[in-house]
Amino acid sequence: MTDPIFTPPYPRPPRSKRGLFKRFLSGWHSWIHVLFDKSYTMKMGEIRLPGRTMYIANELPLVDKILRGGTAFPKHSELVRNLDPLIGNSVFSANGADWESQRAMVNPAFAHTALHRSMPLMVAAADDLLARIDAADAGKPVDIDPMMTHVAADIIFRTLFSQTLDAARSNIIHTAFGRFQRLAHSASMLRLYGVPAGWFERRSKGPARAIHDVFRPIVEARYEDYHARGEAGPRDILQSLIEAKHPDTGAPFTCNQVMEQVSTIFLAGHETSASTMSWALYMLAECPHIQDRVRAEVAGLAGNEPLTGAMLKEMGQVRNIFRETLRLYPPVSFLPREVTCPMDMRDKHLEPGAMLVVAPWLTQRNKDNWACPHAFDPDRFDDPANAEMAKQAWFPFGRGPRVCVGAGFAQQEVMTVIASVVRRFTLSVPPGFKPEPISRLTIRPRTGMPLLFARVN
Ligand code: HEM
Repeated sequence: MTDPIFTPPYPRPPRSKRGLFKRFLSGWHSWIHVLFDKSYTMKMGEIRLPGRTMYIANELPLVDKILRGGTAFPKHSELVRNLDPLIGNSVFSANGADWESQRAMVNPAFAHTALHRSMPLMVAAADDLLARIDAADAGKPVDIDPMMTHVAADIIFRTLFSQTLDAARSNIIHTAFGRFQRLAHSASMLRLYGVPAGWFERRSKGPARAIHDVFRPIVEARYEDYHARGEAGPRDILQSLIEAKHPDTGAPFTCNQVMEQVSTIFLAGHETSASTMSWALYMLAECPHIQDRVRAEVAGLAGNEPLTGAMLKEMGQVRNIFRETLRLYPPVSFLPREVTCPMDMRDKHLEPGAMLVVAPWLTQRNKDNWACPHAFDPDRFDDPANAEMAKQAWFPFGRGPRVCVGAGFAQQEVMTVIASVVRRFTLSVPPGFKPEPISRLTIRPRTGMPLLFARVN
């Protein structure tokens, strides 16, 4: 008998579009709750909101054109404003020539994310995660959501600063980022509806400051060491940013600019991966037959030896879990771009300032692109019939000039964590628990992700 295909939770879309007020209410906590049935299959949609007109481009050639369009479709000012308290003007949010010079200055730092260099750090952080799970009360559900934040933040912390991240600072980050997401999401909703959002904007600065305070002392001390005393710290991302020079003027980043780049790399580099790890482990916990296959693959290739990059390369099933998780729960589910000059697209006329959204959440769950699009079926990535869609209709890391610089790093760390956890534990879901995905800056479970762990041997 074949095992049933599992459909993990997602907000069931109503058949028809709701009115403006109902959409406001359902979107107050999460973008994906606003969608209706046709949102998933329409070629291009138009949403007129009091504060902004928004277009959603689902048709594959349009998705490609927009993402590869570079400066023709810059990141939207609404997104930039939303993220400003957290990452300021940095390589994720900048546009045009400013982005180009920032990218040139930041690029050398990414040598430290090279896979062979970062693998030992990832394995050490994953071992610390296993020890934390071991230390938890056996037989009781463990909320893995903060744990995945800890391991992912610890990995990027080690890569950025050559230091580990302790539980106290990890908790500050997890709680503060959750609060920031709630406040920034509400502020963004209000602005789109043309309602003043000052209260939420001001409140969001507190959690952003709490996150910055975790690494500000490290950045300031190392900046001072180098620029005032000529002393270089360990060769890591931070040191590379401190030593970076503007391609035209030769000027270094100011300390504040280093803080903004560090905040970006730290946040872009852990929140997304943590989200992927939580959803991947949850779906494995729901599907014991897939979990067993994955465990057998890891045991066959690695035994009890420390994981290596070469072993991960051979782990096709673990890689498919990573890909399928990102298809179903792309952490960055909507990529908003700005229309900069009047233009026609399909049957619509777009005016400057309009928001043009490309949505991995929609394209990757469109039944015209993928069979049983809401079902968890990691093997689909082995089916040659899906090869073209895996190129065109799978883009959790974006595409074109603004594609994620950390995609390889993310794949390696998520695969390391999945392989390490299933090798040590059998995972299951506590009876009656079903997570609710909510989409703000990233897709996270609304009330955490409790799972049960039992030692394999
Ligand atoms: C599963 C994990 C990850 C996902 C799903 C993800 C997703 C994305 C996406 C969709 C973008 C492009 C956004 C757009 O076009 O609007 C992006 C950009 C970026 N990501 Fe990631 N990311 C992940 C992990 C990482 C990691 C581990 C790092 C750093 C080590 C990182 C650093 C960045 C940076 C710096 C950018 C901006 C690139 C630029 O615009 O020049 N990301 N990411």
